[in-house]
Amino acid sequence: MCGIIGVVGSPTTLETLLEGLERLEYRGYDSAGVALVKAGQTWRARAASGTESVAALRQECAAAPGGFQSGIGHTRWATHGAPITTNAHPHLDCSGNVAIIHNGIIENHRDLHDELEAKGHHFTSSTDSEVLAHLIEEWRAQGLELLESVRQSLLVVRGAFALAVVDAQEPDVIVAARRISPLVVGTTPGATYLASDVPAILDRAQAFYAVNDDEIVRLAPEGFRAIDLEGAPVRLRQLAIDWDLETAEKGGYDDFMTKEINEQPDVLRATLLDRRRNDGTITFDEMGVSDDELRAVTRVVLVAAGTSHHAAQVAKYAIERWARLSVEVDIASEYRYRDPIVEVGTLVIGVSQSGETIDTIQATREAKRRGARVIAVANVVDSSLAREADAVIYTRAGLEVSVASTKAFVAQVAALELLALRLAQLRQTLEPAEIAALFTSLNAVGEKVATTLTRRDQYEAVAHALGGARDFFFLGRHVGFPTALEGALKLKEVTYLHAEGYPGGELKHGPLALIEPGVVVVAVATDPAMHDKILSNLAEVKARGASVVAVATDGDETIGAVADFVLRVPATEPMFTPMVDVVPLQIFAYAMARGLGRNVDRPRNLAKTVTVE
Ligand code: G6P
Repeated sequence: MCGIIGVVGSPTTLETLLEGLERLEYRGYDSAGVALVKAGQTWRARAASGTESVAALRQECAAAPGGFQSGIGHTRWATHGAPITTNAHPHLDCSGNVAIIHNGIIENHRDLHDELEAKGHHFTSSTDSEVLAHLIEEWRAQGLELLESVRQSLLVVRGAFALAVVDAQEPDVIVAARRISPLVVGTTPGATYLASDVPAILDRAQAFYAVNDDEIVRLAPEGFRAIDLEGAPVRLRQLAIDWDLETAEKGGYDDFMTKEINEQPDVLRATLLDRRRNDGTITFDEMGVSDDELRAVTRVVLVAAGTSHHAAQVAKYAIERWARLSVEVDIASEYRYRDPIVEVGTLVIGVSQSGETIDTIQATREAKRRGARVIAVANVVDSSLAREADAVIYTRAGLEVSVASTKAFVAQVAALELLALRLAQLRQTLEPAEIAALFTSLNAVGEKVATTLTRRDQYEAVAHALGGARDFFFLGRHVGFPTALEGALKLKEVTYLHAEGYPGGELKHGPLALIEPGVVVVAVATDPAMHDKILSNLAEVKARGASVVAVATDGDETIGAVADFVLRVPATEPMFTPMVDVVPLQIFAYAMARGLGRNVDRPRNLAKTVTVE
């Protein structure tokens, strides 16, 4: 899940790389490095200073000579080898001419390492990636040009990669390749770019192209050409990119997390826009699965990771209740390896903000291999998951930068609940009037989220009052349960404090033993049908000395009897409450994190997009 960037033909090679790396830091920031090339010379700089790696790299680069023709840059999220400078990319071959950057994992790196070492290659890092530099060196020594050397090398490599290679002997060329890990190419007259993510080169390139698995691209100032692993020419598909750079900036807020929390009303509006025709039909423009195919669905399986998995859990309640279909929700990394059952009529929905989470991609691939129809619910247009699925529903949340996901969650819940309504419509399990009423309530959610945002100070005050707490349990029932899971995840991601989410009913099956004075219990108590049950859960923990925080609806007077603090939200149709109730929990986590001096956008050890298993 490292970030990579490259440019050939630019008059500002170094600055292009450094700015790109600054935008890529959210993919990993254990270390950063660049390699710049001009005829006969490869110049490299690297730095490993945790979250300050790119800033430190910039300082290192103050000493760089000028006149470079091409360059590559990398921000690392360590998988093999400690996050230290010698393991930072780019890695060089023995001659010092060839430099490579790599995102992914080379699974057979040990065998390759031993073979290459036996041939006399000298390794200087403990990464899996360095074998690529020496493999390519072998072919270069036989007189092959860089493109062909990379192709030959990749024939023996197993694993996942997005990589880029430069060589001082071919200074006007970068060769890049992809298998599983994301890679895009960008062009502008006179210069050609590559990156793991579009924002890194958004303001530099004018046209963008997706590199597919097992394709190799030769970039030169005048453009690029691509081949497959057999050496046959391939055409790269141009991407429709509708982001501007402003979207990637903080919009006047202190951090991306605040910006993204505040964008949620707009995100909901965007996600719901044009989804219902005048005749009441719920519609998805991008949907490539026909109505007949959706009618034929007999079982739904949702696969996802992290926050997306919580959104998927909300969808289970909605699809089962409204469309009367049996729904299973699985952690993507578990689904793939448990020999899953796919029958005729199984619909698999992969939910992912980035569309690049390797576990989710591999889970949907496994499902497809077994014959399932696959729908992607993705935020990033043209992401790998979106491209590979039979159909895609885009969540339209815009670029999400903060590692802890916020706006993508509400957009995912909205999109999935819309899909639940569409399934109910096709299966005629709800009356048209019921669907119309639910759609109207769904449309009103954005306003309710906007109301919660006006109460930011109240939510922050509760966090400040609990500033010294270190242990948190989040409870919920029905869709309040995935909301509680998401609240707990937000808190642990950005504060590094212990937080767990539980269904209220499970409290007495274990967690109750941990309740004592000092522990905080946060309960989602907005569903009228579950209200009494949650209240008794809270009475149980209060009797054992816990501090109690409740997310409760405006006008709920009974909550005061058990809650020490109340996070008030407007009343919402129960199935849609996760989108509203999550907001005070996001702000609560944020305020706790700020109180502890944490970097909310870039929590330690985590990455925005997890492209390794
Ligand atoms: C990482 C991110 C989370 C995200 C999860 C799934 O863990 O830090 O914020 O929820 O990956 O990512 P996806 O892009 O598939 O939704």
